[in-house]
Amino acid sequence: IQAFPDAEKRVLLLKPRGFCAGVVRAIDIVRIALETFGAPIYVRKEIVHNRFVVNELAEKGAIFVDDIDDVPSGMRVIYSAHGVSPAVRERSKERKLKVIDATCPLVTKVHVEAVKFAKQGYSLVLIGHRDHDEIEGTLGEAPDVTQVVSSAEEVESLVVPDPERVAYLTQTTLSLDEARDIITALKARFPKIAGPHSQDICYATENRQVAVKNVAHEADLVLVVGSDNSSNSNRLVEVSRNLSTRSHLIENSSSIQPEWLEGVKTVVLTAGASAPEVLVEDVVNYLRQKGFGSVEEVEVMPENVRFGLPPEIVQAIAAAP
Ligand code: F3S
Repeated sequence: IQAFPDAEKRVLLLKPRGFCAGVVRAIDIVRIALETFGAPIYVRKEIVHNRFVVNELAEKGAIFVDDIDDVPSGMRVIYSAHGVSPAVRERSKERKLKVIDATCPLVTKVHVEAVKFAKQGYSLVLIGHRDHDEIEGTLGEAPDVTQVVSSAEEVESLVVPDPERVAYLTQTTLSLDEARDIITALKARFPKIAGPHSQDICYATENRQVAVKNVAHEADLVLVVGSDNSSNSNRLVEVSRNLSTRSHLIENSSSIQPEWLEGVKTVVLTAGASAPEVLVEDVVNYLRQKGFGSVEEVEVMPENVRFGLPPEIVQAIAAAP
């Protein structure tokens, strides 16, 4: 039964939301590779952390593997947006794989910083989540001198050879508040600690969190479209909950439990950087059916970032008939 739209019940659709420039680029790379070289194309790990995107590309002929050794030797493989360690690059070379690198340029920037600090003799503290693909890749740049911390408490137990020569870096998709607390704890423990020139948390992660912070006070419920392994999506839920606003991470409209909407007048809806707009539209339609008669887009800040394609793809496009 379709509920009668209730003008008092509204959806505030945050902008910016959803795909970031790194995700658009990574998905474009897989699509163009499939069109230009034909299926199958191997992809190491999920190209971006979204089930819908991965399934769609798998249907078109992408084969997702966890380990580079699962790619038959000599075949073409794409590295995911989260980046890879030098060990993976080395192994790809040994196996004569044709590599297309879809690592987000903002992740590559952190890798470059890690190499620079390690060469200068620093002990590195990498702020992030140990089990995340991005941390696995960045850690691999200087594994002997890098330690991962994911909370301010863990800073206390760090052991370094020279407390005067410590540098920190961060995962690109952290909570701004949490990263700030950890950096404060690091600075208290190692007053001379060095850090990146500009912060490693990327523009897309920051903008989506700032948008939630700006509007969450108007919401009875914040819904975040994203997969459960998407770091930046999970952080959006945390940001809302830290502001005492109820919030849930949803894959799509079927994840919504009807009781979440009981007594709710205003739903704020956003999406993590790997969640496609089609899933946001699906949620909007569901909410309309549940009587949320007004859907209003709230643009908190403009966002116009685009990244160029890697040379392997540009050359393939140029050579195509
Ligand atoms: Fe890159 Fe940030 Fe997106 S690091 S992949 S722009 S979430």
